[in-house]
Amino acid sequence: MLSKMVQRNALALVLLWSVPSLLGQPTYSREVSRIIQSKCQICHRPNDIAPFPLMSYQDASTWAEDIQRAVAERRMPPWKPVPGYGEFRDSYGLTEEERQTILSWVHAGAPEGDPGDLPEPVVSSGEWQLGEPDLVVEMKEPYTPPRGKDTYRCFIVSNPSQETLYVNAFDVRPGDRQIVHHVILYIDEKGLAERLDQRDEGPGYNCFGGPGFELSFSSMLGGWAPGTIARRLPEGIGIQIPRGGRLIMQVHYYAAGRTSEDQTKVGLYLTKGPVERRLFYIPVVNTRFEIPAGNSNYEVRANFMVPPLLDAKVIQVFPHMHLLGKKIQLDYVDLRRNTRPGILIDDWDFNWQGFYTYKEAIAVPAFTDIRLRCVFDNSANNPRNPSNPVRNVGWGEGTEDEMCLAFLGVTFDRENLLPFSGSQR
Ligand code: HEC
Repeated sequence: MLSKMVQRNALALVLLWSVPSLLGQPTYSREVSRIIQSKCQICHRPNDIAPFPLMSYQDASTWAEDIQRAVAERRMPPWKPVPGYGEFRDSYGLTEEERQTILSWVHAGAPEGDPGDLPEPVVSSGEWQLGEPDLVVEMKEPYTPPRGKDTYRCFIVSNPSQETLYVNAFDVRPGDRQIVHHVILYIDEKGLAERLDQRDEGPGYNCFGGPGFELSFSSMLGGWAPGTIARRLPEGIGIQIPRGGRLIMQVHYYAAGRTSEDQTKVGLYLTKGPVERRLFYIPVVNTRFEIPAGNSNYEVRANFMVPPLLDAKVIQVFPHMHLLGKKIQLDYVDLRRNTRPGILIDDWDFNWQGFYTYKEAIAVPAFTDIRLRCVFDNSANNPRNPSNPVRNVGWGEGTEDEMCLAFLGVTFDRENLLPFSGSQR
């Protein structure tokens, strides 16, 4: 009896193992190469941010075990928004099916399959993802950050044009990808940064969290982080850089292993046709909180109620916390208390931040309540906790302070009514 059961189970096992191959065991040439092309190569290509390229069967089979580990543990690809909570363009997250395909491919010994099944290679678009920019601006002189994990440095770059510019897209080319961790671009309409620059020796000035001056709806151009894909805003939408305004380039350097010279540049793509709407950034933010030392699950809330007449469309969202952040969630609650999901990141990682652009703009009429929820781990068990011993932590610009913040890139339906829309078109 027992041996019969064993036999039957053995038979079932054999059948189970052979089913995938009967159905078509995934091969590199047929399935895996296509997934790697669309979800990994934006970073795993020569001279990009990932430590090795995944361009060929040779590459993929060499790294097969690491791929399995990284994919099984969901560390790779580092797409952070939880699927289904907001619909975003240009996602490089894996679908569950793609994930399983990669895992069973490695499990089966990473078979190559028939090279005749390979897809056409993706054509490299050269240095700039969107082609030659209309304008390129760069740090005036190279800067060498001190060796260490975190240097936040702001550089002033003037508007090279005598006119007001409307930016429809931008792309950032780090001078040295090994040390440039991310870049945020601010617009300094009034030249406030000059003083900060003068007070600090060397190129640029130290800054963390923000550019060191108070922000308004129109003081941000956008950001770049590893994996950010340059994309144009919808046609007719532009971010204004006023004549005489300056761009502030905040660069986060991570020169833990070695340091070197960097001269990061930014390509600007201007709106082609007439500018119908400007893009503004609304902060949803709570600056008054204190995360108790030792608390591993402390929640901070913020909200922004859309004021009368300021009916808007949300184009993109940029969630932001520092090192203690665990989870961040944004929701849109209308007057009837219907909730629409905005974004959810449940394994926050300071090193993978981004502007996430909605597939379809989200209409937020006046009185929509935009709610933000941040969860922090301020315990000694959090390996990222920068404070030892742990201490109470509140809002601030320092690495050891925290933020609970989301910037929403919006257009206003009645832009002409805005006091700050003063366009010099
Ligand atoms: C947005 C950029 C980006 C994308 C997309 C990406 N990677 Fe990575 N990958 C990196 C970087 C950067 C590292 C270096 C380690 C780090 O910083 O986390 C890395 C490291 C790795 C490692 C080795 C280290 C480890 O964590 O085990 C593997 C394996 C890997 N990636 C596989 C993949 C696969 C497979 C895909 C696609 C399914 C992918 N990556 C997509 C940027 C990316």
